[in-house]
Amino acid sequence: MEARWEAVDAYIGEHLLADDPGLTAVLANNGVHRLPPIDVSPAQGKLLYLLAQMAGARRILEVGTLGGYSTIWLARALPEDGRLITLEVDRRHAEVARENLDVAGVGDKVEILVGPAHDSLATMADDTGFDFIFIDADKQGNPHYMREAMRLGRSGATIIVDNVVRAGGLIEPDSDDPRILATRALFEQLKEEARIDATAVQTVGAKGWDGFLIARLR
Ligand code: SAH
Ligand code: DHB
Ligand code: MG
Repeated sequence: MEARWEAVDAYIGEHLLADDPGLTAVLANNGVHRLPPIDVSPAQGKLLYLLAQMAGARRILEVGTLGGYSTIWLARALPEDGRLITLEVDRRHAEVARENLDVAGVGDKVEILVGPAHDSLATMADDTGFDFIFIDADKQGNPHYMREAMRLGRSGATIIVDNVVRAGGLIEPDSDDPRILATRALFEQLKEEARIDATAVQTVGAKGWDGFLIARLR
């Protein structure tokens, strides 16, 4: 089925996503620098863009920058005076992202904090009031990143977590993959969390079978 999922993503792209030489160049530049091709897909990037716009986001937080592909989609959703902070542990990824963000024309809206997200988040004491938070870094960190998102988001904030389905791995309680176990811990956490209203949507397409957790902070 995978080939068919990809073909449908291509069809969606042809009809609903404008030709975007800038973003194509970003992915090419990521390849030149040998970044892993684990960016969100174009259709997913546009979903993030639309959700951020629908939320009227003026301040966005992203955990996990890579080459800034998702960052660019999100930054494009911001108004003129909007700001985005993105967290990346790998200096080389952050350097490629900086280049890509500048070429894409959104560099002035985006601050990249280099270092473990855990540490960068800890330094964000008064930097609260985010409207939209996208979590897409090490999956082991997701329970902690969700707690931090709840601390840093405003009431009504949108919180999205990437890669929560992992080809169905989500429902394997005996998985030996710490990323799966952490995602399951995140779901257990949210089961008990009255301040979060959430769902998860499974996705298929160019990035295989995965899914987004979509939440609203009360
Ligand atoms: N959001 C990007 C993809 C991110 S891939 C996009 O869709 O375009 C995950 C990124 O998280 C990688 O660049 C990886 O280096 C980074 N990462 C991994 N562990 C991290 C940590 N502890 N803190 C911050 N970033 C981390
Ligand atoms: C991986 C990470 C991602 O954020 C993603 O979207 C796909 C794969 C990974 O670490 O394998
Ligand atoms: Mg991801």
